[in-house]
Amino acid sequence: MSKPGDKNQIRTAVRDHYAQAITRKSGCCSPRPVELTAESADKFVQLSGYTKEDLARVPENTTSFGCGNPVSFADVKPGQTVLDLGSGAGMDLILAAGRVGPEGRVIGLDMTPEMIEVCRKNLATAGITNAEVRQGVMEEMPVADQETDWIISNCVINLSPEKEKVFAEAYRVLKPGGRMLISDIVTQDLPDDLRGDMSAWVGCLAGAEEEADYLRLMEDAGFVDVKIVEKLVYDRAALGALAGDASGCCSGNETGEISADMVEKFADRVASVRVSARKAE
Ligand SMILES: C[S@@+](CC[C@H](N)C(=O)[O-])C[C@H]1O[C@@H](n2cnc3c(N)ncnc32)[C@H](O)[C@@H]1O
Repeated sequence: MSKPGDKNQIRTAVRDHYAQAITRKSGCCSPRPVELTAESADKFVQLSGYTKEDLARVPENTTSFGCGNPVSFADVKPGQTVLDLGSGAGMDLILAAGRVGPEGRVIGLDMTPEMIEVCRKNLATAGITNAEVRQGVMEEMPVADQETDWIISNCVINLSPEKEKVFAEAYRVLKPGGRMLISDIVTQDLPDDLRGDMSAWVGCLAGAEEEADYLRLMEDAGFVDVKIVEKLVYDRAALGALAGDASGCCSGNETGEISADMVEKFADRVASVRVSARKAE
């Protein structure tokens, strides 16, 4: 097993992994199969929190690499601006664009050029005209101070080796009174030796923060009303189901599979959470 190195090495490994994942069209924590059959769509809906109506709004081959559906929890209003950190292939951008309507705008941010290319194609296919995708890292966002009303993110912040910088940047770019709604992975009493595996890091598991530390990092950045609004602990069955789909970025390994070994080690120690927070007026 390769070990995580310094921050830049981690970001490079993450970028390479997602470049390959989108090229191979594999899924993630809640894999959306490329070929949606009635059965696979049901399974995806169960695992991800997306509804069938959501799926009908995005182009057929849009791949989800997420671990939740942040847009469904966010009280986004017409005319607002929404920023999606780590926008991937654009599924949440498309859903958010529908919520803000023609007077609003959505901004995707991603560091992986291959992902951005696919995302732009998906936005065009979906006929979305009020969205843009910017290339950059969320630790240093190419976004102006107070540019956005909402920040959403789906299974991305766990991948950052500098989460305190991400939350500081998120606070900077939000308008006063702006809100953040994140789907992400957190850990519960994860032994330190499991944090050293780079393949589990790029797979959204080993880089995840302990739940209490995650919330504290957000509060330290200045956020108020920080709370978990939904939580799903990944037990053996849930992780095994992701492994069974054999398409996961969450797997992290080079072939894109969650190994039986990883299922055993991480079961009941990782959870998908929806976290809500606000920047005071
Ligand atoms: C697990 S995927 C999630 C994609 C998308 N949110 C979804 O739900 O399908 C992680 C995405 O975040 C991007 N990413 C990871 N670390 C990043 C960083 N530090 N800055 C910007 N993008 C990042 C990756 O390129 C990838 O597209």
